[in-house]
Amino acid sequence: MFRQLALLLGAALALAVAQPVIPYDSLMDSRVGVDGFIDNEDGPEYPATYTDKASGLTVNWGLDDSLLYVGLSTKSRGWLAIGFGSPAMHGSNMIIGYYTDDSTKVMNDIGAGHAHARAPQSDSAIRDAEIDFDDETGLTTMEFVYPLQFPEGKDGALAVAGLVPGGACDVILAQNTGTIAFNARHTNRSTLRVRLAEIPPKPAMEPQQQPKPEQKPEQQ
Ligand code: HEM
Repeated sequence: MFRQLALLLGAALALAVAQPVIPYDSLMDSRVGVDGFIDNEDGPEYPATYTDKASGLTVNWGLDDSLLYVGLSTKSRGWLAIGFGSPAMHGSNMIIGYYTDDSTKVMNDIGAGHAHARAPQSDSAIRDAEIDFDDETGLTTMEFVYPLQFPEGKDGALAVAGLVPGGACDVILAQNTGTIAFNARHTNRSTLRVRLAEIPPKPAMEPQQQPKPEQKPEQQ
């Protein structure tokens, strides 16, 4: 009995340790360049990187007070995607893209059953997005800036549950390693649950910085 409990506890602990965390950095905007290339030469561009074996995708990410910054990479040349807010395709708020020498695409879609369709309002919600292929590394990289609070849309379809600092959010990942055709199903896919870091408390004022209490003029 004790052995079983210890095993269960061990498994729960391993799961907790393995859960990816998206770190907070108030300077995300200046550290990330949304250009389809992850530049780690002078230190990591993103505060965290998660390599997902099942989908074959690598996710770089970080958040500030209002935005999530994501860089998604693969060695393959088909389409790649990430979705937020649902453990299944249905109801997931997705970013899907591909790169070829002739054309590129990055789209914001909403999953419906085992299909997906263009999200209304996505042009104004997705601040910045870029996808590129790097000959040297052989990596296709899609980068984008995604709002923590999506405009809900008419039927609330765009809302993403748990995407708040200190929260937990379902994330899905998928790619098709052979084709850029968006109507072709994935060759690899996975589901994970991520934690979003808390916003750290602002440092308290040093005592000498605090305003001095007003002094009364001395009585003659
Ligand atoms: C038109 C393109 C797509 C088609 C036709 C499609 C089709 C399907 C089908 C038939 C399944 C159930 C069988 C299976 O498990 O493989 C499935 C599951 C899944 N797909 Fe897709 N898919 C597409 C795009 C995507 C995208 C873009 C993502 C990620 C953003 C994704 C993520 C998943 C995940 C996580 C599952 C397992 C959970 C679930 O059943 O919803 N799929 N897909």
